[in-house]
Formats: sequence, structure tokens, C-alpha cells
Amino acid sequence: MIMNKQQIILSSDLSASLKQAIEACPHDKLFILTDECTHELCLPLIQEFDYLSNACIITIGATDTHKTLETLAHVWKELGDKGGTRHSLMLNLGGGMVTDLGGFAASTFKRGIAYINIPTTLLAMVDASVGGKTGINFNGLKNEVGVFSPASSVLIDTNFLRTLDFPNLVSGYAEMLKHGLISTPTHWAELLNFDFEHIDYPHLQNLVSQSVKIKEDIVTQDPLEHGIRKALNLGHTVGHAFESLALEENRPHLHGYAVAWGMVCELYLSCLKTSFPQDKMRQTIRFIRETYGNFEFDCKHYDRLYQFMTHDKKNSSGIINFTLLGEIGDIRINQTATRKEIDDMLDFYREAMG
Ligand code: GLY
Repeated sequence: MIMNKQQIILSSDLSASLKQAIEACPHDKLFILTDECTHELCLPLIQEFDYLSNACIITIGATDTHKTLETLAHVWKELGDKGGTRHSLMLNLGGGMVTDLGGFAASTFKRGIAYINIPTTLLAMVDASVGGKTGINFNGLKNEVGVFSPASSVLIDTNFLRTLDFPNLVSGYAEMLKHGLISTPTHWAELLNFDFEHIDYPHLQNLVSQSVKIKEDIVTQDPLEHGIRKALNLGHTVGHAFESLALEENRPHLHGYAVAWGMVCELYLSCLKTSFPQDKMRQTIRFIRETYGNFEFDCKHYDRLYQFMTHDKKNSSGIINFTLLGEIGDIRINQTATRKEIDDMLDFYREAMG
């Protein structure tokens, strides 16, 4: 499969950029997909653009619990009932849940219509909306069903970040920190110095722009994740296990928090197995502890966490697959660890973060 490259536009004039992006996709009917939150908070910011006056709005429930087959079927039905054709265009206005599910709905309706992502959360701007991964949760598993299908354009306007609460802001920032770790010491250090108490939005915009370029560059090299795109999984093997355990115990955490905690573990493994420098691990851990706090668990949870890691869809033949680092920017994909090393890693996490 060949993936078309998606156009990523860092916009300072959303109206003009969106008009241009829409004009690049000739269409008969225009749909805007929102969730209940972005319908209230973000739609008013674009609905006043005169060229959207005939757009048809589809609204779905907010949060990951609605990233389901039922919601997907609802979007397909709305598209069909409201006159959507193979030549229609959909704008996905929202966080990762809306861009993932909306991208999947668009890519499958009438065998695929064009879509444009307008991410409104930091997580969606720097990660979910870029790179063509679409899908829904299914059978209790996150992003179990979906397709690689890039948006025609991704329009990033950091003014939307002013509508975000603090937990959602730092949740997205974890993916930026990941991009720092897999890119250059300068970008990593710049990220560790960000002051969340006095948010400098123009500076944040600059960091977002660098972050998106890092992801875009990797996705362009390896759109279907056969090799280097696995760099983007740093922190996610353990992070997904923390996320699943937290969900199972009815104490859910935002994705980025779990990824940040997962990076603590995977930097430890990187020191152990691929000679990542300990001082850089310690500096990163300090930032994560101060920004994200701690995820509490004890040794009774180790078996369950191990099971979650074994069931990760990034594994093959039941072997847990890690992405580790030899240095900042020195990416080592397809690494493994023994059960003993994983137990030691969890011991280390509890000692370093507790
Ligand atoms: N979120 C990781 C990726 O897009 O590959």
C-alpha cells in the first residue's frame, strides 16, 4: 500500500488556511464531525467562516468510551442519511478520539472519502492527527480495528490549546517529550525547561511545530510502521500496560500520563541494555515526577502488568517489543527484555517515583 503524504499546515490564520485546504479537495457536500465538547468549545470558532455555512454537523459523544463500533455506525448513518456521497469531504474537529474515529469513518464510507483533521488538543496536534493511523476500540482493546489512511490536510492552530485544561495539556506534552528523546539533545533540553506555571503560548507553538516535524519526518520514512516508525512507541509498551491496569481498576489516567510513566521504565531499560546515559535518565525522570506525579502499584501487580505487555499489538510471536535508546536520538527498535529485567524495571520505577 502506498500512502499519500498528508499536508500539515501550522496555521496562524485558521480561516484562510482551512479555506485553502478545503479548496484543495473538490467536493459536493461538506461535513464537520465534532464531539459534545468540541461542539460547544471549538465549533463556534470556525462556524462563523462563511464558506462553512452549508456544512452539515455530525456530533458524537466525547472521550475514549465513545470510540466504538456503535459511534462509527452512527457516523456512517449520518453521512448516508444527510446526503453524503463518494465525493463528500469531512472535517474532523476534535482530539485524538474524533480524528481517529472520524478518519476511519471517512476512509470507509463509500470506500473512502477525503477528510481534513483540525486537532484541538495537544495530543492530537503532535501525535494522533498526524500520520494516517485511524481506528476504533473493539473487544476491550484500544485501537483494535482501523486502517492507515492519511488526512488530505492536518491544520494545526495552537489557539485551540487555550481551551484545554492542565491535565490534557501535559498529557499531550508527554508525546512531545518522547519526540525530544528520539530527536536531539537540544530539543529534549528545551522541553525539560518549559514552565507550566506561566505558559508562554508562542513558545509552546514553536515547540509544537518542532514536534510535529519530528513525527512527520519519521512517518514519511516509514508510513506503515515496518521499521523506524516504531521509534514513536518509546514509552508505550509499559505505558499501555499502566493505562490498561488503571482502567481495569477503575482509576483511569490520560494516555500521556501513562506514556510519561512508561518512559521512566523504558529509559531504565535503555540504561541497562543499550547504555543510555544515567544522568539524562535522571533529569528526564525528575521532570516526569514533577509534572505527572506517580502511578501507584505494588509487586502484586507485576504479573498483570507483564500480561498486558505480552498482549501488546506491537509484539510478534508473543515476545514483548520495546523501543529503547542508546543516547538521545539514538533509536534502537525491536529490543526485548527478560521477565527478571522487567521485574527489576518495575522495582526501579517504584523506588525512583515513590
Ligand atoms: N502514535 C504513534 C504513531 O503514530 O505511530
